Amino acid sequence: MIKSTIAELPKNVDKEVKIGAWIANKRSSGKIAFLQLRDGTGFVQGVVVKSEVGEELFQTAKSLTQESSVYVTGLVQKDERSPFGYELLVKGVQLIHSSVDYPITPKEHGTEFLMDNRHLWLRSKRQHAVMKVRNEIIRATYEFFNENGFTKVDPPILTGSAPEGTTELFATKYFDEDAYLSQSGQLYMEAAAMALGKVFSFGPTFRAEKSKTRRHLIEFWMIEPEMAFVEFEDNLVVQEEYVSFIVQSVLKNCALELKTLGRDTSKLEKIKAPFPRISYDDAVKFLQEKGFDDITWGDDFGAPHETAIAESYDKPVFITHYPTTLKPFYMQPDPNREDVVLCADLIAPEGYGEIIGGSERIHDMDLLEKRVEEHQLDTETYKWYLELRKYGSVPHSGFGLGLERTVAWISGVEHVRETIPFPRLLNRLYP
Ligand code: 4AD
Ligand code: MG
Repeated sequence: MIKSTIAELPKNVDKEVKIGAWIANKRSSGKIAFLQLRDGTGFVQGVVVKSEVGEELFQTAKSLTQESSVYVTGLVQKDERSPFGYELLVKGVQLIHSSVDYPITPKEHGTEFLMDNRHLWLRSKRQHAVMKVRNEIIRATYEFFNENGFTKVDPPILTGSAPEGTTELFATKYFDEDAYLSQSGQLYMEAAAMALGKVFSFGPTFRAEKSKTRRHLIEFWMIEPEMAFVEFEDNLVVQEEYVSFIVQSVLKNCALELKTLGRDTSKLEKIKAPFPRISYDDAVKFLQEKGFDDITWGDDFGAPHETAIAESYDKPVFITHYPTTLKPFYMQPDPNREDVVLCADLIAPEGYGEIIGGSERIHDMDLLEKRVEEHQLDTETYKWYLELRKYGSVPHSGFGLGLERTVAWISGVEHVRETIPFPRLLNRLYP
C-alpha cells in the first residue's frame, strides 16, 4: 500500500493508496456516499459504493461526521468533472477520531462568528486557498530577491525609533527603558544596505491604527527591500518587476486555488512590467475633474480617491512626488522642487488600494539633521541613523510591500482579515 497525500494523488493514478484525512463534507444516498476529504495538501472526493465495499463499511462511511479524522484506502482515478481532476474510489475507512458538533457547517455564517472560530475556519476550502496563495507570494518573494542579488536581513522587532510617525506606536517596557514594536524595519535596512548593498527583510510590523477598514490590520507583514546606489526611478523598476513576478508565480503555481476563490485570472494575466506612473499633481487634477471637490493640493488621498485613480488602469499605478508635508522625515526632496519628495505609492487595481510605499532616502547629513529637528524627533535616538550619512553616504532607495493587501488583491478576497492566519484587528485579539 502506498502512503500518499492528496497533492500526490496525480502521481498514483490507478494505484491503491492510503491517506490520512478529515471529512470536510459528506453526501450520501442509499447506494453511494461522497466524502469530501481534505488533508491540508488539498481536497479530493472519495466515492464509497455500497455494492463494492459491503454493508458494514458503507454504514461507517455514511455515519462519518464533519471534521472527523480518518485513514482512507482507495483506488486513485482520473475524474475530468472535478476541478482537482482526480477522485478516490474508497476501499476502506478507519476512523481515527470522531468530531462532534463542528460549529462551521456548510451553510452561511456571519463574519463575527467565523472570526471567533478562526482556529477552525482556517480549515475551509476557501481559507486554505488564500493561505496557499499567501505562501506562494512569500516563496516567490524569496526567489525574486535571491535571484537578483539581494541578501535577506532581519531588522529588530523591539525598537527605540519610529520611522513612520509616533502616533501609531505600540509601546512596551524594555526593562527600565521605553520601547516600541516595529512599525517598519526601514531605518535598520538602510544601515544593512550600507553593509550589504542590496538587502530585503520580511517580518511582522505593528501599527496601533484606529482604522476599521478592509485594508487595515494592527499586525501585518511587510517585505522591505533597500538598495545602495539606487535612485528614485530605478527603485520603481525593481517594484514593478517584483510585483509582476509574484503575480505571475501565483498564476503559474496556484491555478487550482485561484479557481476555488473564483478569481478572474484574465485580470492578473495583464500584470506585467512596466506599470503606469502619475504624479501627485496630476492625480489631484484628475480627481478634481472627476468631481472630487474634497481634494485640494496638499491633501492626502483616502481609499475612494485611490480607487478612482486606479480605475483608469488595468495594472497597478505609481502615484509619485507627493507633497513633502504628507510624508515621513527621511524622504529625499525632488531636486527641482522643494515642495515634493522622490516617493511613490503603488496602488493595486480593482479597489485594493496602496500595496507599496517607497522612496529615495535623504543622504545629505545636514538636510537629514534639519528634518529630524523639524519633525521634533529625538536626535539621540536617531544618532546611529544619522551616522549612516557621515561615513561614505550614498544615494539609496527602498520600499515596503504590505503582504496582506497584496494577498487580498491577488486572491480577490474583499477584506485583509482573510489573508493572515490569525488577524489582529481593532477590538480583536482572539483567537
Ligand atoms: O507606506 P508604509 O507606511 O511605508 C513604510 O512603512 C516604509 N517605511 C516602507 C519602506 O520604504 N521600507 O507601509 C508600506 C505598506 C503599505 O503600502 C501597505 O501595503 C502596508 O505596508 N500597510 C498595511 N497593511 C495592512 N494594515 C496596515 N495597517 C498597514 N499599514 C501599511
Ligand atoms: Mg504608505
